[in-house]
Amino acid sequence: MTPESFDYIAAQVKQRSGLLLTPDKRYMLESRLAGILKREALADLDALALRLRDPRANPLAEAVTEALTTNESSFFRDGKPFEHLKRVLPRLAAARTPGQPLRVWSAACSTGQEAYSVAMVADELAPQLGGRRLEIFGTDIAQEVLTRARDGVFSQFEVQRGLPVRQLIKYFTQEQGRWRINAEMRGLCRFERLNLLGDLRGCGKFDVIFCRNVLIYFDPPTKTRVLGALAAQLAPDGVLYLGGAETVLGLTDRLVPLPGERGAYEVAGALAATA
Ligand SMILES: C[S@@+](CC[C@H](N)C(=O)[O-])C[C@H]1O[C@@H](n2cnc3c(N)ncnc32)[C@H](O)[C@@H]1O
Repeated sequence: MTPESFDYIAAQVKQRSGLLLTPDKRYMLESRLAGILKREALADLDALALRLRDPRANPLAEAVTEALTTNESSFFRDGKPFEHLKRVLPRLAAARTPGQPLRVWSAACSTGQEAYSVAMVADELAPQLGGRRLEIFGTDIAQEVLTRARDGVFSQFEVQRGLPVRQLIKYFTQEQGRWRINAEMRGLCRFERLNLLGDLRGCGKFDVIFCRNVLIYFDPPTKTRVLGALAAQLAPDGVLYLGGAETVLGLTDRLVPLPGERGAYEVAGALAATA
């Protein structure tokens, strides 16, 4: 692949998703796009770059972008945010008017483990939430992971990563060597395609936002833009969780860290009843 072809594909992907592809990702491009080359009967990545220049190649550019996303996820990933959430949800439930659901957003949800982890936390906290309904919204740019998230079926390997056996038995049933989360947990979650670079205002306000392990793939201006858009959708007393390698520091002053809680943020100057 010529450097020009690499630059063209990388620019397309960045413009569409924010994902930054540095020249050291050349081999990743070759392996992840091999399937598309075969399907499209293209000889190599130079031929793909050429095809992408055709204005009618929009679906192909989307497929290329999706193939270059990293979809790694696990149940109760990093543990701490879910422990913190157990303290946050009762506080928010007490602060809301009767009948108003608590809205949680798993932005860049991948295959849904994060959203379903929130559903299990909420179910176990039900007595402390005073019957408050939860709406869990999972979004991602990649269609394939969303289909998997909606199905709610996970491999043995996936349920062994972070999901306590007690919750596996309580919330899942085994089907031909795979594990299906129960209909009640699925009913709490809704999964839709959404690009974090798009207009997020249509999603409404959220009490809690998880946006973890996606900003690491963006450059600083894109991180700033996405963090600003997320801050605008976060309730004044709500909480934003970022991944372990992510921060708002040096990127935006619209969000501030919650004291003593790594990875948890609130809107700057918020009413902030810290949990
Ligand atoms: C590594 S996964 C993180 C999954 C989950 N949040 C977690 O921490 O376990 C990153 C996800 O971000 C999604 N993604 C990448 N760029 C995106 C964008 N611009 N808008 C929405 N989702 C995006 C990818 O498709 C991928 O599923």
